[in-house]
Amino acid sequence: MRSHYCGQLNETLVDQTVTVCGWVHRRRDHGGVIFLDMRDRDGVAQFVVDPDTAEAFANADRARSEFVLRITGRVRLRPEGTQNPNMPTGMIEVLAKDVEVLNTAVTPPFQLDEHGKVGEEVRLKHRYIDLRRPDMIDKLRLRSRISHTVRAFLENQGFLDIETPVLTRATPEGARDYLVPSRTHAGSFFALPQSPQLFKQLLMVAGFDRYYQIAKCFRDEDLRADRQPEFTQIDIEASFVEEDDIMAITESMIRQLFKEVLDVELAAFPRMTWQEAMDRFGSDKPDLRIPLELTNVDDLMQQVDFKVFSGPANAADGRVAALKVSGGASLSRKEIDEYTKFVGIYGAKGLAWIKVNERAKGLDGLQSPIVKFMENVVEELLDRVDAKDGDIIFFGADKTRIVNEAIGALRVKLGADLDLYTQAWAPLWVVDFPMFEEDDNGRLSPLHHPFTAPSCSPEALKNDPANALSRAYDMVLNGTELGGGSIRIHDQTMQRTVFDILGIGEEEAQEKFGFLLDALQYGAPPHGGLAFGLDRLVMLMAGAKTIREVIAFPKTQSAACLMTDAPGEVSSEQLKDLNIRLRQKAKADTTVE
Ligand code: AMO
Ligand code: AMP
Repeated sequence: MRSHYCGQLNETLVDQTVTVCGWVHRRRDHGGVIFLDMRDRDGVAQFVVDPDTAEAFANADRARSEFVLRITGRVRLRPEGTQNPNMPTGMIEVLAKDVEVLNTAVTPPFQLDEHGKVGEEVRLKHRYIDLRRPDMIDKLRLRSRISHTVRAFLENQGFLDIETPVLTRATPEGARDYLVPSRTHAGSFFALPQSPQLFKQLLMVAGFDRYYQIAKCFRDEDLRADRQPEFTQIDIEASFVEEDDIMAITESMIRQLFKEVLDVELAAFPRMTWQEAMDRFGSDKPDLRIPLELTNVDDLMQQVDFKVFSGPANAADGRVAALKVSGGASLSRKEIDEYTKFVGIYGAKGLAWIKVNERAKGLDGLQSPIVKFMENVVEELLDRVDAKDGDIIFFGADKTRIVNEAIGALRVKLGADLDLYTQAWAPLWVVDFPMFEEDDNGRLSPLHHPFTAPSCSPEALKNDPANALSRAYDMVLNGTELGGGSIRIHDQTMQRTVFDILGIGEEEAQEKFGFLLDALQYGAPPHGGLAFGLDRLVMLMAGAKTIREVIAFPKTQSAACLMTDAPGEVSSEQLKDLNIRLRQKAKADTTVE
């Protein structure tokens, strides 16, 4: 039907006859001459329709925004003064000979170039219109290019693309499962995979040696800008490998991807232990573009007469951390109050600060609500954080977890608010994670998943699980966890030990993971892998703020699809087939009995 995409038209085609198919982006009636900006996935070009081509003119006259047209005409240079060098097709226009209306369109819910005026809800409800925007097309094109480049890289390295089931058993990755009731097994449910973790390990037992899959994963968890209930992983696993092997392959994959797609040369990724990341940045995914660091001041604060500080400084699970911001003394009281509110989100009970107006003046040169409590240590404190005139020092004092979360988040927020970024891209590896984390009731749960190998023997693990480290690694980019993986347990005794520590008894382990424990007996090779969040990778590479912007049909924060209105109710016949009776009919709370 067409000879060219609109976006392909340029001065090399002058005097040629072309046919395009596309949508009316804009229509302007200039006293007898009609200008049509026609749009398709490649761009926009200008068409001119004169009244002397009567039929074409009549069709152009009735065309409106988003009508679908097929236009044939001759390419010509635009008259002097009307050229637009900012547009790829801006030097030319097409004098239309034939205009065919392929379809009409009712008035769209928003004009494409005025999408900012409507809320995201309207855009998501009419996503097929939103996706016509060049910006959205570019992002999905980039996504396609990224998957293609990744596939080519992995295929070249001998990885086989193998699909794993979507109707399966629970794979624990720390979120709730999406369940699918079985019709043929009354009262039984499939779980949608939170990741292909167990299947990829079984593929290693089977001997495939190198596997990858661009796989859909499903997690029923609280959503955020970088989390969707259904998302895509670049999932990778290999046998006879150690940490360095997987890290080298995946790092070179990301470096090559950035080079090919963005022409960005990433430096070798630094490695940082989990402990160092927490101490210096309060986060296991530090954004190293921001030159701010937390400084430990526990030893100084143990000596002060201010319980809010000396309490946590003396407690085993407490921490007092300082965050110096160069030039931050110019922050207003109102701004500091805003930051105090901000850290409150993370449970901080306050945000103490010292403004260093003039160090040479000693205490008189400082401004602070707390300095009166710590006159005995203030000089040492200022030296430790290397405070200069014009700086501000913030403090967090509480349980270590709260201080890290609150001051870690404050660091990231200050970096953004004050535009402190020192570089465009800051990748790193975080290694030496603890094997387990302890909840407030002292119960242990895996920091990664329960198939991650510890760095020690089963005996050592049993003796001191809380302090054991794992063989896991995360790739972090600009403060986002891009991917995570580990060397796995390939030994049945070790796997049972881990289940034991997690309070998963023999019977439960057999019921839930019997197939894995069985497989480990039949010659499981040492193996390990990693999974990247494809959506997050595309988001960062596209410079998008949320992963919703790089997913064609994303869900809302409340895990619903506004376009299809999913999840939806089902008929009582369907429920009957599935042996399900609802406790409540109410839409918001349909609990399954
Ligand atoms: P993990 O749970 O760390 O590891 O997930 C791997 C990567 O997937 C991305 N990701 C998400 N992206 C969008 N929405 C979500 N809800 C979401 N959850 C996770 C992140 C994350 O780094 N089986 C292991 C991997 C392995 O050990 O090989 C796993 O799934 O970018
Ligand atoms: P207060 O004694 O409650 O008036 O607090 C004095 C200063 O310490 C105020 O600036 C508070 O914001 C701050 N503050 C209170 N609790 C904490 C805390 N847990 N961590 C850091 N600063 C705090």
